[in-house]
Amino acid sequence: MSNMIFILQGDDSKRWIEALIPAMPEVDFNADCYIWPDVPDDPDSVDVAVVWRPNPGALKTFPNLKAVINLGAGVDSILADDTYPQGVPLARMIDPAMTRHMTEFVIYKVLHFHRKFHIYEEMQRHHVWKELSQLDTLTRTVGILGLGALGSDAASHLTALEFKVAGWSRTEKNLDGVESFFGADGLTPFLAQTDILVCLLPLTQETRGILNADLFSKLPQGAFVINAARGGHMIEADMLAALDSGHIEAAALDVFPEEPLPDASPFWDHPKVWLTPHIASLSVPSSAAAEIADNIRRVRAGKPPKDRVNMDSGY
Ligand code: NAP
Ligand code: GLV
Repeated sequence: MSNMIFILQGDDSKRWIEALIPAMPEVDFNADCYIWPDVPDDPDSVDVAVVWRPNPGALKTFPNLKAVINLGAGVDSILADDTYPQGVPLARMIDPAMTRHMTEFVIYKVLHFHRKFHIYEEMQRHHVWKELSQLDTLTRTVGILGLGALGSDAASHLTALEFKVAGWSRTEKNLDGVESFFGADGLTPFLAQTDILVCLLPLTQETRGILNADLFSKLPQGAFVINAARGGHMIEADMLAALDSGHIEAAALDVFPEEPLPDASPFWDHPKVWLTPHIASLSVPSSAAAEIADNIRRVRAGKPPKDRVNMDSGY
């Protein structure tokens, strides 16, 4: 008999199980599925763990895991747990609804800054009726750090809006209308021509702290930053200094090194910051269930899961 365990922090296992029931009629979820910390008497019987930010140490309870299936795109919190069971494949989430939602978030924030709504909002507060100059879309470059599942979709929608679009990734890309920069050597030229920087990188040893003073100094004066990836990408003091000096005109920040954002954080009331509580793109059970079910069936049939994380690169 094979059991499934759900280990979710900050999400509701039941809503995921409800979405999976119709997608996996062959599974008796009442009998063969557990929600941490409730575990079967025989932990050896658990072959699949479905997780979101699993409690550190929890996965090692199950010696016969065939796969860990993450309900989000980012796996940084899982890989930060040095008790992760060696050799067990980890799958991350690639889901069309999640991708759409991230693209909506990115477009919304890009347009906010591109069309100067950050200034018009301030003008309304002061009853100022004035027309501001407008840069043409064709001359504004949006630079996306990370051209994976999320970054490439955002890039293609931004090209449809006729922005100039560039992307930076580890390997070279060939996306219609998107200038590809890659590797360490590609970062400086990529930044030099980026007016609006969007971070959609995974958080890995190589990308932690990448949004720092050195990177900001390579952006043109008055650039904008949108971070919808992970708070660990950003050095908070460097971001504040770049905003306060005016080198970065404004920032949209969805993620922070410490979440929830502490009440005393200077970001809450910063006049140049538009912040959201890590909601740029949420997983959608009804959309993702079929893919998760398929992945569970694959690993139970002895195949590797789809969307498998490379444990060496960390994404
Ligand atoms: P992905 O498909 O794995 O794509 C990652 C991209 O980053 C790839 O293009 C990769 O390059 C590039 N990359 C990785 N390390 C790099 C490095 N050292 N230098 C240059 N480029 C590097 O990831 P995704 O699904 O698009 O998701 C990205 C991240 O978004 C997630 O990891 C998560 O942290 C975040 N996220 C946030 C939210 C939110 O609500 N705020 C929601 C979902 C996801 P290659 O293509 O060359 O490998
Ligand atoms: C959300 O932050 C995710 O990684 O899916």
